[in-house]
Parts: sequence; structure tokens; C-alpha cells
Amino acid sequence: MIAADLTTTFVDTRTPAALSAAEAAVSRRSVRAYRDVPVTDDEVRRLLELTGRAPSAHNLQPWRFVVVREQQQKNQLSAAAFNQKQVASAPVVIAMYADMEDTLASLHEVVHPGLPPEKRDATIEGLRTRFGRMTLEARGQWANAQANIALGYLLLIARSEGLDTSPMLGFDPEAVKAQLGVPAHATITALIALGRGAEDGFVSHRHTVDRVASFR
Ligand SMILES: Cc1cc2nc3c(=O)[nH]c(=O)nc-3n(C[C@H](O)[C@H](O)[C@H](O)COP(=O)(O)O)c2cc1C
Repeated sequence: MIAADLTTTFVDTRTPAALSAAEAAVSRRSVRAYRDVPVTDDEVRRLLELTGRAPSAHNLQPWRFVVVREQQQKNQLSAAAFNQKQVASAPVVIAMYADMEDTLASLHEVVHPGLPPEKRDATIEGLRTRFGRMTLEARGQWANAQANIALGYLLLIARSEGLDTSPMLGFDPEAVKAQLGVPAHATITALIALGRGAEDGFVSHRHTVDRVASFR
């Protein structure tokens, strides 16, 4: 059993080696203050590469990312996020969104290249028919549910790689879309502040397994 951390005093316990999934799950916290230490492009690329390993229904991978470093842009995003301070202070803010219309427009890239051509064509046709029957809004929500799987990956992998995060839904989506040029039909999955924490975050509080699961 892992003892609860009862202090919020910052102690940097990270090691250069990646944390296991279990270690990352237990030690990840939402961190809202960041040290002035850069996150490199390579680190962000690696994080997004690993995040993209997330599963999605039909393997459609409808998640998209805008990586924001520029201070003025972060300040503007912070204003759209009700002045949440981590948006302006983290070295990187990732705007993650789901774009089902782009996904449907590029099914030739999405469907597995290893399929025989007739099977590929039939799969693409089947997907067009299936999602064509849904409203724009319904399939946008469907895509966002897939993107949320990748969001969980991103938060966990970041922690495993020695980075801290703060996922956020507290923002005006229309303002964020307008600022970043995200298409109107897309759904913003989350803003994610990313960096090296200057605090530990709140003490974790979670349900027990017995509170949320039944075994039959
Ligand atoms: C989708 C999502 C949206 C969230 N939105 C915000 C937010 O806007 N502002 C904030 O300070 N924390 C936000 N949080 C952080 C949660 O409050 C936090 O994950 C929760 O209290 C558990 O704490 P922990 O992340 O430190 O384990 C969000 C978390 C998630 C997963």
C-alpha cells in the first residue's frame, strides 16, 4: 500500500528513469505552478507520439493538438480560461481537440494500409455511411469520447516521463477556438498545462475499489 502524501511542500522525487504506469498513476497530480525550466520540442513530440498510441474505436484517432509556447498566446489563452494561472505560467500549453470532420475527410489515411484494397474501400464506405447518419454534433461528441482516452494517456505518460500536467475544462471554448484557429465544428477536449512542477499539487483523494466496482 502506498502511503498518502500529506504535505504539499514541493519535493522533487523524480528520477531520470521513466516511471512505471503504476508509479505514474499513483504519483500524478494536477500541478498548477511550474518551474521556469523549458520543455523541449523533442519532449513534446515524444509525449504526443506516445499519446497517439491510445486506442480508439475503428482506430479513427480523431484527436488533434495545438502546442502553444509563445507567452503572448499563453496569456491570451489564460484570459479565455478565466485567468487560470497555470495557463500563463507553464512553459507549454497543449490545446487538445477532437475533429471528426477532418477524420471523415481523410479516411484513406485512417484506415489500415495493410488491408487489401477491396476491404479498405468497403471499410471506408462503411464508416462514411455509419457516421453520415449521425448529426454533426453527435459525431463530434463521439470523437471527443475517443480523444478523452488519449487525454488519459497523455497525463499518465507525461508523469512517467518526468513532466507534470494540469488538465483543464474551465475555459470558453469559442474563445479558444477563435484564438487558435480550431475549426468551429471541433470539440476542445482539454487545455493541458505542461512543464516541471514547482509544487506537488493537492493530496490525492480517491474512491476505494469497493465504492465503484462490484464483482460477480
Ligand atoms: C477533464 C478535466 C478537466 C479539469 N478542469 C480543471 C480546470 O479547469 N481547472 C483546474 O484547476 N483543474 C481542473 N481539473 C483537475 C481536477 O480538478 C483534478 O484532476 C482532480 O481534482 C483530481 O486531482 P489530481 O488531478 O491532482 O489527482 C480538470 C481535470 C480533468 C480530468
